[in-house]
Amino acid sequence: MGESPLIFAHRGSSAVLPEHTLPAYLKALDEGADGVECDVRLTKDGHLVCVHDRRLDRTSNGKGRVSRHTLAELDALEFGNWGDRSGTDDPPDPDRARLLTLDRLLGAVRDAGREVQVLIETKHPTHHGGDVERALATALRRYGLDQPRDSERVAVTVMSFSALAVRRMRELAPGLPTALLMELLPSALRGTLPFGARIAGPGIHLVKARPRLVRTLQAAGNRVFVWTVNDPDEIDMLIDLGVDGIITDRPAFVLKHIGR
Ligand code: G3P
Ligand code: CA
Repeated sequence: MGESPLIFAHRGSSAVLPEHTLPAYLKALDEGADGVECDVRLTKDGHLVCVHDRRLDRTSNGKGRVSRHTLAELDALEFGNWGDRSGTDDPPDPDRARLLTLDRLLGAVRDAGREVQVLIETKHPTHHGGDVERALATALRRYGLDQPRDSERVAVTVMSFSALAVRRMRELAPGLPTALLMELLPSALRGTLPFGARIAGPGIHLVKARPRLVRTLQAAGNRVFVWTVNDPDEIDMLIDLGVDGIITDRPAFVLKHIGR
């Protein structure tokens, strides 16, 4: 068995708090996650916001597509279901239900005061002709996070299911690490990833169907981060396989399970 894998909080500590909200990410950092995962989409007026679905309906009190709304319109919505507040006199925390922008997330991880890895997934890149990747490269450059730096404790990796998006990120920010996510088993995989990606992100279902995928990808020089892993038997299997990263909704549980 090799080193302990990195533990990433998927959409924040999203089993405990509403996904993609600032408190979900702060909780993950507090719990000791090595890093966080976040999906980004573009608003109508070109801002990057942390929302998984194309539509607003599941995670907010808004309706319709994220991309049809301006940042100001989205910022006026409530994100996250915070459950029954009866029996508490605590005032509601406005951050709890507020839209999370990429800017706010990057600010929060910087303020953590320790090393944090941030996995940023661009959603539906083919629908926006590269706009998401361009906006992301610009934002990361503004934060000095467009390439790894010794002086910087925050390290960003951009991930996508789309090889095209990986290629665009490589063109826009050549020093930035990229990961290719995998939902389906590749028909013929010799382990080399396209366009300079050095991290493979297979779903847990793929690893269970073909465990040797991990060894094949690692033998070709890639790290392997597996999503979305919340089950103890699956964690044990991944530890035995020697994966490099586990992306989970339950970072505190996974850390405890692996004895960290
Ligand atoms: O970390 C990869 C994983 O997040 C991909 O699936 O649908 O949760 O974005 P999804
Ligand atoms: Ca994701």
